[in-house]
Amino acid sequence: MNHHSSIVTSDLDILEDLDAVKRVERESDGTTAVYLETYGCQMNVSDSEIVASILRDSGYGLTRDAGAADVVLLNTCAIRENAEQKVRHRLEVFRSRKRKHAPHLKIGVLGCMAERLRDKLLEEERLVDLVVGPDAYRDLPLLLEHADETGQSAVNVQLSREETYADIAPVRYDGNGISAFVSIMRGCDNMCSFCVVPFTRGRERSRPATSVLRECAELVDAGYREVTVLGQNVNSYRDRSNGTSVSFAELLYRMSELSPDLRIRYSTSHPKDCSDELLSVHAVRANVCNFIHLPVQHGNTDVLSRMRRTYTRDEYLDLVDRARRIVPGVSLSTDIIAGFCEETEEEHADTLSLMREVCYDHAFTFMYSERPGTYAQRKYADNIPVHVKKRRLGEIIELQNEISFESNRKEVGSTQRILVEGPSKRSDNQLCGRTDGNKMVVFDRVNGVAPGMYLDVTITSCTSATLFGMMKSE
Ligand code: 5AD
Ligand code: SF4
Repeated sequence: MNHHSSIVTSDLDILEDLDAVKRVERESDGTTAVYLETYGCQMNVSDSEIVASILRDSGYGLTRDAGAADVVLLNTCAIRENAEQKVRHRLEVFRSRKRKHAPHLKIGVLGCMAERLRDKLLEEERLVDLVVGPDAYRDLPLLLEHADETGQSAVNVQLSREETYADIAPVRYDGNGISAFVSIMRGCDNMCSFCVVPFTRGRERSRPATSVLRECAELVDAGYREVTVLGQNVNSYRDRSNGTSVSFAELLYRMSELSPDLRIRYSTSHPKDCSDELLSVHAVRANVCNFIHLPVQHGNTDVLSRMRRTYTRDEYLDLVDRARRIVPGVSLSTDIIAGFCEETEEEHADTLSLMREVCYDHAFTFMYSERPGTYAQRKYADNIPVHVKKRRLGEIIELQNEISFESNRKEVGSTQRILVEGPSKRSDNQLCGRTDGNKMVVFDRVNGVAPGMYLDVTITSCTSATLFGMMKSE
């Protein structure tokens, strides 16, 4: 492959406008166009921004048009069976395109599925040309070159104890210019029995605080107003580089000092690492949002123990009390799994009662999906029939809708400061933005109000998912 930098740009919007030009240019100078599709969590979105940066620096062009691509890369998720199914279907689409019309097309699987399936993707299924795990993205240009030159598939699924991509400036090609992800740690050392992540993403490691702070300062200079700090378990962050020892709470504090106009959120955290020190940073720093995603997973202590979550129901409830005492009015969201191995009706009922007790503002809810190689798969029977899992999940969702609606109803009449993000999903005549507590507010456009501004809105009505408001009159 002959790589030229003539059309390389960090802005895919520009690239899109240039698509026609680009195709002509590419034909004449041999620039390779890469189409990148991302599945799964926010961490994967952030990783794709790193992949884009690595490829750009090696002279590749990025395209939004899969039809115009020489290389298709899918950044994949392995967390549940259905996430993998989605990617398999997508791979079939590209495989068939390659067979029928585009023999030169290279197809690559990146991320968690690459790590989990490795040889299976290459040998048994002969589906792809490239298999690249989440710690091997620096190797992508070489692997692409290898695949191109030899016609053979190329693989690197080596996991690392050090890689944090600290020095790579992400290309925020899909962003809104207001809100950005900043990844601060990778991997996970918790061994939740249901979870494939420790296998796909390897050991936990933290990125040096200096490099995190530098990236955030650059975002502020570039006009960003919100950062979501990312990692599989952000609150166990600890930077031990250069003889320092910086905790997550300290890092957040320092980030919050960069600019009062930069809001800070983080995801995802583990209840075991939610210290008083961390909670008090929410309380004393106005721009550290009063919102914590605190996955509980289940409401019953025996199930929590089978899940190896390291806390009991009561300990979790104590933590929620502590959070509400130290950070008055804090919004809480959670992850919940329905139908875990051997879950009884009584145990399931404990999840519902815990939800009522905590009153989460939002919950991400999942049916248990057995993952090969996990402790749960080896140790427990996945013995809850799908229709029972579905029914239990349905009960959880229905209850959460009621709780979310009730929590939103309490906001009606209040004034909230939101960060305006852009047009609402439904209508171009409306804008939307989030409250400090991470609730989406939709309101009619007002002259002079633009994305990136902070705005005080009065909440006038709501559904379980959305608040509606109007600009506060003086
Ligand atoms: N089945 C169902 N849900 C899962 N999660 C993780 N692993 C599984 C699994 N095997 C959920 C957890 C986690 C979220 C990201 O995904 O709730 O917090
Ligand atoms: Fe999916 Fe987990 Fe990998 Fe994110 S880290 S892509 S949620 S398997």
